[in-house]
Amino acid sequence: MTVRIVYQDCIAFLSELPAGSVDVIATDPAYSGMNQHMMFGTGRIVGDYQSPGNERWFQEFHDDPDTYRRFLRQCQRVLRDGGHVYVMFDSFSLLSLGGLVREFFDVKNVIVWDKVKLGMGHYFRRRHELIVFATKGRRKLSRRDIPDVWRFRRIHPPRYPTQKPVELFSAMLAGSVEPGAVVCDPFVGSGSSAIAALQRGCSFLGCDVSAEAVEFASRRVAAYQATGSDPAQPCSARVDGEAYSWLDASALPCAGVPSTKAY
Ligand SMILES: C[S@@+](CC[C@H](N)C(=O)[O-])C[C@H]1O[C@@H](n2cnc3c(N)ncnc32)[C@H](O)[C@@H]1O
Repeated sequence: MTVRIVYQDCIAFLSELPAGSVDVIATDPAYSGMNQHMMFGTGRIVGDYQSPGNERWFQEFHDDPDTYRRFLRQCQRVLRDGGHVYVMFDSFSLLSLGGLVREFFDVKNVIVWDKVKLGMGHYFRRRHELIVFATKGRRKLSRRDIPDVWRFRRIHPPRYPTQKPVELFSAMLAGSVEPGAVVCDPFVGSGSSAIAALQRGCSFLGCDVSAEAVEFASRRVAAYQATGSDPAQPCSARVDGEAYSWLDASALPCAGVPSTKAY
């Protein structure tokens, strides 16, 4: 199983991959739409990623429709015929950009990630994100028992901003890969998608425009490959009592509250 994580823009990275060389794209883009368009009360914007003092936050992807179409066009080119694609959205980006996915892929479903605990929000507190599932051509999921609502706890505190649970990516891969498949995430962040790919015996290709993210994800993957445990998510995000028969048990290191130990 090979892993390649590079410091590069998503579109440039995808443009250099051979056509049809990827089996599954599972990705969580850094949408800027909410920050550009959503103004609350005094004009303060949720998630101020850019201003001085917020250096730990990352650069946003310029997700205007033209750029987003260029991104999706490259995803479509690198994905093999019969490949599956999973793209994460919040409610706002789903309304502004989600429809564009249909121009390039056959959209089959929109999955809800229920984060279990309430987050921020002025008009209803946010507790979910969305994942558009689509195919290039025809290929069914390999299993028929996966629901379209997934309950996984957030990673708290995250070791990387917006770090997602490995289980979330593992769920995306559950019906879409066999060992040996090539998984691609062009917004790799902390590398949760890479860990999920390795747990399923897949190779991984990813990039990020943050040097810190590339460094973090690379160290995380190396530690996982050396020890078999994940230093950035030592505990499962599963909810006690929830049935996860469709999720590979080997992808779940332990149950309980995630450790707060810094990585
Ligand atoms: C929402 S985060 C991904 C989090 C990741 N799924 C995880 O679990 O850690 C989005 C990532 O996209 C990166 N990013 C922003 N613009 C990008 C671009 N143009 N190309 C590639 N990566 C980009 C950010 O640096 C950030 O790490």
